[in-house]
Amino acid sequence: MRRFVLLAHKAPVVPDFTLNDLPGSAGRIDVLCRAIGAAFFLSHDLRRDVEVDILLQDQVQIRLVGERLKRLNPDERSTAALIKHALEKLGEEEAQSTPGIFVSRRTLPEMLDRLYQLGAHPIVLHEDGAPIEATSIPNDPAFFLSDHQDFSPSDEEVLADLPRISLGETPLHTSQCITIVHYLLDRQQEDEGDLVLCHKVWGEPKAQLIKGLLADFNIPVNMVTQVPASILPMTVDGLSEVRIMVRSRDLERAREIIADYFEEPSAE
Ligand SMILES: C[S@@+](CC[C@H](N)C(=O)[O-])C[C@H]1O[C@@H](n2cnc3c(N)ncnc32)[C@H](O)[C@@H]1O
Repeated sequence: MRRFVLLAHKAPVVPDFTLNDLPGSAGRIDVLCRAIGAAFFLSHDLRRDVEVDILLQDQVQIRLVGERLKRLNPDERSTAALIKHALEKLGEEEAQSTPGIFVSRRTLPEMLDRLYQLGAHPIVLHEDGAPIEATSIPNDPAFFLSDHQDFSPSDEEVLADLPRISLGETPLHTSQCITIVHYLLDRQQEDEGDLVLCHKVWGEPKAQLIKGLLADFNIPVNMVTQVPASILPMTVDGLSEVRIMVRSRDLERAREIIADYFEEPSAE
């Protein structure tokens, strides 16, 4: 599950805004609607493994749950109408205003508590964070983003201890950040399910040499050992064989490099 938590600072907490002025008197609800679109929409489909949690003025939470969501359309005006309808249903208990959209009174610390209880891993997206390329994203991430404004001082206080990840120094729109995160996580998932056998060697030292060489060419390697050397530290046919696995898109290049520096790769 991927979660995106949007902290909205100006969007209203009562349904008294007009759908004709989303960027103005409706407190930049258009920014939230675009972010919702980026989080859920695929071409002719919806991402079902996504939840978007919007916090309005640190008072009201609107949750959009991908696997139950209905009536979400790509235009911002109709998404804003769903938000307005959710605000009309705001009561003491969490209420479902339309299929897959839930509204309740919550503050940022309460929202964070819920995420921890669900086993999610909160992460702040911020220009000043650690580069995303150098970070490994945990399972069940919950990315916190602000709206058209920076995080407020009280947001910063609550989020201070969370990991911060940057998508580069350029300040981006909230919806653009979500698109980039989806792209990177989709690619990571494809890569994880897509390792192919590149070469087999005998013994881990040689495999480590090849792994280091390929790393110099930005080709990540997974080494699969039949029997770990620490358990059986002698070479027995078939037991100390190490398989060099690479992403299928790197296979041809990896084989060329191994052939240039070591030997013809063998996948037999
Ligand atoms: C429009 S920006 C907020 C305002 C922005 N700091 C500014 O004044 O130009 C919306 C949010 O997107 C996220 N964001 C924008 N650029 C980012 C980047 N380069 N890396 C990571 N997150 C970013 C942050 O969560 C930010 O609060």
